[in-house]
Parts: sequence; structure tokens; C-alpha cells
Amino acid sequence: MTALLLTGIGELTTNVADPDDPCGTRNDAAVLVRDGLVAWIGSTDAVDEALAASSTPAGPGAEVRVVDVGGRAVIPGFVDSHTHLVFAGDRAEEFSARMAGQAYAAGGIRTTVAATRAAADDELRERLATLVAECRAQGTTTLEIKTGYGLDVATESRLARLAAEATDEVTFLGAHVVAPEFADRPEAYVDLVVGDMLSAVAPLARWIDVFCEQGAFTAAQSRRVLEAGRAAGLGIRVHGNQLGPGAGAALAVEMGAAAVDHCTYLSDDDVTALAGSGTVATLLPGVEFSTRQPYPDARRLLDAGVTVALASDCNPGSSFTGSMPLMIALAVREMGMTPAEAVWAATAGGARALRRDDVGILAPGSRADLVLLDAPSRVHLAYRPGVPLVRSVWKDGVEV
Ligand code: NIG
Ligand code: FE
Repeated sequence: MTALLLTGIGELTTNVADPDDPCGTRNDAAVLVRDGLVAWIGSTDAVDEALAASSTPAGPGAEVRVVDVGGRAVIPGFVDSHTHLVFAGDRAEEFSARMAGQAYAAGGIRTTVAATRAAADDELRERLATLVAECRAQGTTTLEIKTGYGLDVATESRLARLAAEATDEVTFLGAHVVAPEFADRPEAYVDLVVGDMLSAVAPLARWIDVFCEQGAFTAAQSRRVLEAGRAAGLGIRVHGNQLGPGAGAALAVEMGAAAVDHCTYLSDDDVTALAGSGTVATLLPGVEFSTRQPYPDARRLLDAGVTVALASDCNPGSSFTGSMPLMIALAVREMGMTPAEAVWAATAGGARALRRDDVGILAPGSRADLVLLDAPSRVHLAYRPGVPLVRSVWKDGVEV
């Protein structure tokens, strides 16, 4: 395999933490990629020496493709730890109604469930591929994808199988809302989720998730779902505190979940509990943008010592965008994050939320998932909102 050497990097974000700079910034840097992994990082000045040395990091006799990026910035590929990308149809009318004053209450999920159940695999696969390509083009190299628009055993299994074709980070979200045919029997629906549905989907998934919120699942139901998932070998994550205060964050911390996502309405106790835990608070500002809800207070979480991730929540209802640059811009403008904190949260933070140490970081041995920006620094991601600054993307060392 040809090695790749990026030189002339004006600002390289490595996320190899240094007490003064969590982004591990290097200027005038070069990165050598071999076999899909980062092989070497150094200064542009040291490149010739590094290549000429007998222990050349490209390996003896290896061919090296050299790309001089002309002083531009390079960051790790975005790690989008929360998406719902397998579905059919859209809800543009619901969005228009919301912009005319209607509130978001997650009831539209059932509209997407009906469309998704009726869609053939090929239609869902094609739609998923289009959305994944949109995410990639905007710099996302690691994607979590949830089920949750099937809500019956056959469709949830189909969605998990399709998601697994696109990513290793598949999440079973049978407990998204109560399926329409169980509307007045929520406990019976939870029985199905933790029974036949979990048995069918668990072999295809890495995670289990539950929407712990008024109108979706209670704390007791959520605990049942998560316990069953854990017993089936899945890691746990939670949707919580999106539409109002609730038990989601506390439950996530108590159960050692990898992440609790949304976190728009947190009590002081929730923040204290998160700060002393291994649970990441994942903020999804695309939702507040698209539902006109108040943005979560990232500053409060960061100042308390909580690990914060940013993700897109791309779905047809509350946030129909997979753009991580947009999440960064919103987090900086509306949520009190510095550009450096937001870029970290969209890369290393997402990796923490997925309990991964091979992505979201650029260091020898990490995956060669890189984004070249058409800008001299990562600050431009927030400073130039809506501008397509992602110039090139490499996933596992291959340009996509
Ligand atoms: O994360 N909160 C629950 N689920 C999604 C919304 C899904 C939808 O509206 O279709 C979310 O925002
Ligand atoms: Fe979600």
C-alpha cells in the first residue's frame, strides 16, 4: 500500500492532550500514514530526515505519495456518536409547522415509523448511503447509527442489518417510543423490546439506547430496557433530558452508561453526578436549532468538569442534518464553547462517548482519519458558518 505524507500543515489538531492545550496543537507539521494508520507525526522540517533515515517510517523501499497542504489546517475526522440514519420519507411539513409556532413533542416519530416499515430494504439502503455520503463529505469518519423507526421485531432487525452495513457502531433503539399498536399497553411493548426484539437485534448491535422522557419511557421502563441490553452484552447509552427535566441523566450515570444525549434540561444534581462519572454528556445543537428549544448550557457542564461531546442527531424529525461543522458553529455561538472546545467535543469527545481510543485523535497507531480544512485554523469552522471548509477527507488512510 502506498504511504501518504501530508506536509505543510499550518495547524494540526492531534487531541494528544497537553495540560495547556487539550487539542494538542502542532504548527508546521507533517503526518505520515501507512496501512490505514498514522505512522509518524513531526515537523515539516523533519520530513526529509525522517524519510531518508534507514528507519524511515514509510518502511524501506516504500512508495510515498506526498501532499503539501500549503499551510492549511488538519483535524481528526469527526466522530458523530449519535445519528438515526436508517429511515424512509421526511417530515418537511412538520418542520414548516414548527417554524410557524407548533411545538416539537416527538410525536412525529410514528410518521417516520409508518414510512420506514413500508419501505423495501433497497430503498432504505440507498437513502442511508446518501446520508452517509453527506456526512463523510462534511468530515465525519466515524458514525454511530441507531435503529428506532421500526418498533417491531422484523423491522428493527432489518434496520440493524442495514446500519451494520454502514458502520460498526450500531445502536438498538427499539425503545424509541411505544409502538403504535401498543399505544395503551406500554408495559407489553417493553416486554417485547427486552424479549424477542432484543434477541433478534443484539447480535447486530454494539449498543442499546432508550428515550427516557415524558411521552416516551419512564425511568423504571428505561432501567429495564438498559439492564436487559447489558445482560445481552450491549453497551448502554441514553436519550434524556431533552424536552424537560427528567431521570435520564441520573439513570445513565448510575448505570455507568457511555453517554447521555441531549442534556438540555439538567438539574445541579445531574451536573454534579455527570462530573464525577465516566458518562459523557453529548449535546445535539441541531435539535435546538430545528425545534426552537433553548440550547443546552455547555459552559456550565465544562466548568463543572463534565466530558462533553457534540453530535448531529441526524434524523428526519428534530435535526435533519449530519453536519458536524454546523454543530461546532452552533456550540460556539449559542452554548458558550470556545472553538477549541467545540472541535475537541466533535472529535475526541465523540470518541469518548463511543468508548473508542483509536479515533478522534491523531497519534502514531491511531486510525488515519483526517480532515483537511480549506482554512488556516480550526477556528474557521465556527467563524465561517455555512461555508464548505472541508477540502479532503481520509478514512483509514484512504481519501473518500
Ligand atoms: O434524538 N428524541 C428522540 N429521538 C430523536 C427524534 C426523532 C424524531 O423526531 O424522529 C432525537 O431527537
Ligand atoms: Fe436521537
